[in-house]
Amino acid sequence: CYILVLYFFFLLVCQRLTFSCLTTGPKGMPHWSKQYPFCGGSFQSPIDFYRDIIQFTSSLKPIEVMNYNLSSTVLYTLSNNGHSVKMSLPSSMYLNGLPYRYSATQLHLHWGNKYSSKGSEHTINGKRFAAELHILHFNSERYPSELIAMDKSDGLAALGVLIEIGAFNPAFENIVKYLQNVKYRGQQFPIPGFDIEELLPPRLDEFYRYEGSVTTPPCYTSVIWTVFRNTVKISREQLLTLQTSMYYTQKDEPAPLEMMDNYRHTQEPGDRIVFITFRQGIVLSLILAGALGALVVIAIVCFVLQRNRAKKQTAEIKGIIYKSTPSKDEENPKI
Ligand SMILES: *[C@@H]1O[C@H](CO)[C@@H](O)[C@H](O)[C@H]1NC(C)=O
Repeated sequence: CYILVLYFFFLLVCQRLTFSCLTTGPKGMPHWSKQYPFCGGSFQSPIDFYRDIIQFTSSLKPIEVMNYNLSSTVLYTLSNNGHSVKMSLPSSMYLNGLPYRYSATQLHLHWGNKYSSKGSEHTINGKRFAAELHILHFNSERYPSELIAMDKSDGLAALGVLIEIGAFNPAFENIVKYLQNVKYRGQQFPIPGFDIEELLPPRLDEFYRYEGSVTTPPCYTSVIWTVFRNTVKISREQLLTLQTSMYYTQKDEPAPLEMMDNYRHTQEPGDRIVFITFRQGIVLSLILAGALGALVVIAIVCFVLQRNRAKKQTAEIKGIIYKSTPSKDEENPKI
């Protein structure tokens, strides 16, 4: 009985630990801040979404994606920009649900390496996911272009999608199958449009929202971040293709450098609060509190049961002694 209690207790503890203690050692990029002072400053991205900085709010509107279904008869530029694979997007694509209209400019990905399926930039309670998709937008209500918006405090809006290993993902294949054509830095390849919304998780109303930066130099603190709560899945093979197809270097460079672990380590949240539009944290706490309560009850029941059994045993032993004494007395005269 007590073993059962212990077992459940460890199960609970282990679950808590995997939530908070699974941190990997991401690669530092300390040289950035010398050339780009913003990279060493505050309000940087990505960050870890952990309990202490998260706050539920019911006042954020769900994200609505407009004109995300690109025609397959129009070609868009896929390129290797030296730190990721990038797909250029038309400004006819835009977001609703933010204080301004934000029009799309590009999407790109971050990933780990073939030995490690940990390559996302944002982490949740220290957990790093396999990869991460970013769709970048600029404030087209206030600024004429991404270039002019990129260093303004309300200039950019990014969608972040955490990627895990799972079933084959046909939407991601629209990019993955062309990676061979943009292996080297500076290479470009035209790819047909597809429904970009299919790269997103189904629920666009559940997300983490905070103010941060672009995660590559010059790290301007101009981004309103929306990282979706739900992940999307790509297959192990698709992830491997992402991890092994591209190079940081140009085609004819003598020392090719494989593009891997192109994620930035998490930055200090400082005074920032991450707003969440879902109540999972509270529900989880309630479940845990409930489970702990149940454990205490089981433990008490165990204790009472064992005490009753002990009493009964003492009573039986007394009975045996009481009964056996006369029998021994009966036997004794025979000897
Ligand atoms: C996207 O557009 C194509 C035609 O270009 C259409 O067949 C498809 O149903 C559209 N998808 C959605 C989700 O509306």
